[in-house]
Amino acid sequence: MKGLLKFITCGSVDDGKSTLIGHMLYDAKLLFADQEKALELDSKIGSRGGEIDYSLLLDGLTAEREQGITIDVAYRYFTTEHRSFIVADTPGHEEYTRNMAVGASFADLAVILADATKGIVPQTKRHARICALMGIKHLVLAINKMDLVGFDQERFQAIKDSFLQITYHMNLESIQVIPVSATDGDNITARSDRTPWYDGKALLPYLEKVDVHKEETHEQFVLPIQRVSRPDHNFRGFQGQVEAGHIQVGEEVVVLPSNEKAKVTSILITDKETEHAGYGQPITIQLDREVDVSRGCVLTTSDQVQVTDMFTASLLWMDDTELIEGRNYLIKLGTQTLPGTVLSIKHKIDINTGKEAPADRIFKNELIECDIALSEKAVFDTFTHNEALGSFILIDRISNMTSACGVINQSLQRSANVIWQETDISRAVRSKQKSQKPLTIWFTGLSGSGKSTLANELEKKLVALGHHTMLLDGDNVRHGLNKDLGFTEGDRVENIRRIAEVAKLMNEAGLITITAFISPYQTDRQQAREIIGEEYFEIYVSTPLEECEKRDVKGLYKKARAGEIPNFTGISSPYEVPAKPKLRIDTSKQSIEDATELVLKAILDRVQL
Ligand code: ADX
Repeated sequence: MKGLLKFITCGSVDDGKSTLIGHMLYDAKLLFADQEKALELDSKIGSRGGEIDYSLLLDGLTAEREQGITIDVAYRYFTTEHRSFIVADTPGHEEYTRNMAVGASFADLAVILADATKGIVPQTKRHARICALMGIKHLVLAINKMDLVGFDQERFQAIKDSFLQITYHMNLESIQVIPVSATDGDNITARSDRTPWYDGKALLPYLEKVDVHKEETHEQFVLPIQRVSRPDHNFRGFQGQVEAGHIQVGEEVVVLPSNEKAKVTSILITDKETEHAGYGQPITIQLDREVDVSRGCVLTTSDQVQVTDMFTASLLWMDDTELIEGRNYLIKLGTQTLPGTVLSIKHKIDINTGKEAPADRIFKNELIECDIALSEKAVFDTFTHNEALGSFILIDRISNMTSACGVINQSLQRSANVIWQETDISRAVRSKQKSQKPLTIWFTGLSGSGKSTLANELEKKLVALGHHTMLLDGDNVRHGLNKDLGFTEGDRVENIRRIAEVAKLMNEAGLITITAFISPYQTDRQQAREIIGEEYFEIYVSTPLEECEKRDVKGLYKKARAGEIPNFTGISSPYEVPAKPKLRIDTSKQSIEDATELVLKAILDRVQL
């Protein structure tokens, strides 16, 4: 008997997908509604010696699942005399691609449905490309509704040829094209006599026999750490699932990213001691010396695993909003989660031809190649070498939704040759010389809300008290450092990033920095907070839009209302209200003097040495 086959079906209701699956399930000899029973059976034929292997449930895009987002993928379990199956059935509504990517990350094989009356449509090509991106090496194209084209061999051949042409460059290991009729049952469980010209197997027998066994190419041991277990003082074990290779008690491993070496003193599978463990097994490992290991670290014997903070990736964009270069996302990679940005879009991949095409703007369901920069060094590998360490998801930091999934193509070593230079005069020395602690007071709010006025008054007060300050103001900085930037979402992201970096440098110099920028997006303020660190002190100038518009000091609201200024904050571009500012000031209710006093009171003990 062949092992378990995990597969996904791609196609829409119109293609006859439900009928096809329904037919297969019905005709299968056994059908379990009860997952546990099915797993028990899988485990019997699997490698776990009869134990129920719940890890089967945890395969696939684990990151996505851990995040607890609604994914609409139904996993069905069934078995025939020859094989057990888990099919990930993804519904064909609008969130389709997202679900398909989740399903595809779990599967070894994909059954793609085409409609014989329509042939290969863009959706078919997209399915094939997403499957290939997610590492699926085996495809079946089921050309359905053959009854509607009179079981015409030429029609079949033409669709088959064009499919083979599309998939030619996808580095697949097997492709089988089968003519079927899901409603009539032709070539589903048994060969149909209405297609005498087809000499292959019917769909189910083909799935029973197809060999999807992955050659274990990575002999080297890789264990991404999920958890450090410390039940008492005597025990410190590192837990995770072996993603490649084998390990034995006594062997030496490298801990990444710290690069420390240690020997394995014990291996546990559940609570049983063992001498060795291998690919796919969840284990607890103990080392012979104290090393710095936490979630996200990797224990390995391989020299392929890399530690850098930049890589090139292929990305499937799944968010309803467009991708903005430079914006900060959370990146879940292996067992690590860390902030990162899409640094630059290199090109998109035309789903029809698979060719690279230039792209400025990226929308939902597009495939791209891009450079990604992480906020710090992380442990990863290329996807072709190790799927677990080479695939990741991008999470929107505000909505917490998955915005994209991707695979790593190569590491970029650019940052490896830039080394932080320690200087003798430190931040502490500079701060002491000025008898103050540096701080960045970050004013955010609509244009005309009073940010600049407040910032100006505050600076005067601070200087009068003998402090050393610097004021960065939106309009001023846009005359110099940021004169290349406009007001599109992407430009504002970059505007705020640069200001945050400058504020940080000012803080390094020991200065109290005051910034007055609209900074309308929550994610970007979050990024500023991360760049600046503990010194970030956010003040929301909450003066209502009506009041700002009434004041209209620069006459810009009037122009914006007349449609003369595009993307004007509050009018034709959003302002996202800060969730937890340190202080909130409404200049329509408070005088500038009172407001300045309030700010001063709030920050004085933060700047005193
Ligand atoms: S931010 O959104 O990127 O933070 P910033 O604070 O630098 O904006 O610049 C805002 C100032 O630019 C406003 O006070 C206004 O004088 C001017 N401005 C010009 N065009 C726009 C626009 N489309 N939206 C908002 N402000 C604009």
